[in-house]
Amino acid sequence: MVTSFFAQDELPDLGLRSFGKNVLISRKASIYDPEHISVGNNVRIDDFCILSGRIEIGSYVHIAAYCALYGAKGIIMRDFSGLSAKVIIYSVSDDFKGDYLIGSMVPPECTNVIGGTVLLEKYVQVGAGCILLPKVTLGEGVSVGAMSLVTKSLPSWTINFGIPARFYKERKKNLLILERKLKPKDGVK
Ligand SMILES: CC(C)(COP(=O)(O)OP(=O)(O)OC[C@H]1O[C@@H](n2cnc3c(N)ncnc32)[C@H](O)[C@@H]1OP(=O)(O)O)[C@@H](O)C(=O)NCCC(=O)NCCS
Repeated sequence: MVTSFFAQDELPDLGLRSFGKNVLISRKASIYDPEHISVGNNVRIDDFCILSGRIEIGSYVHIAAYCALYGAKGIIMRDFSGLSAKVIIYSVSDDFKGDYLIGSMVPPECTNVIGGTVLLEKYVQVGAGCILLPKVTLGEGVSVGAMSLVTKSLPSWTINFGIPARFYKERKKNLLILERKLKPKDGVK
């Protein structure tokens, strides 16, 4: 089968801070600051994703096509978390309120770039087309419906959607039973 993924023996050339076993990274993904990016075991990063800054990716993580992770202030994705296509995660943002100019081509003394780490705990799944703003934590087991805007942290084992994303209902935990079937050698701590 033809795929766009780097062969395993090509991965060291990417210069990642660390990476585990069974890592599939598309040749069409753009990885900036690879020395600040760590990747666990059983991870897949698809075509046209952009990863930059400080990014920590656990094991059993899938980042689907067209996602962008802007990790200047840090993005952490724990084991079994995932991003459906076209998710954008901002760990930093310009100040839109009018006191500053905006944009990467403006001298920094005229801008106010604000932000903080975005954390996706274990089993978080973010639906297609979502945007996550800086400093949010998605608690363990959170899922976010398609096309949502996450402006605040979301509590564990909840399903949320909307603009802004709000609580919809509790999320079931049956997936935890399936995790126990995986063998330790598969790279889950
Ligand atoms: C949020 C979600 C999990 C809810 O699923 P569900 O519990 O089966 O909910 P339902 O389909 O019964 O929808 C319940 C209501 O919420 C609305 N709704 C569902 N998802 C929504 C979303 N993402 N944004 C806005 N409204 C949504 C539905 O229109 C429905 O409204 P109604 O009661 O007025 O008719 C699901 O709709 C979703 O967005 N999943 C993400 C799928 C995805 O991104 N897949 C990518 C490939 S993995």
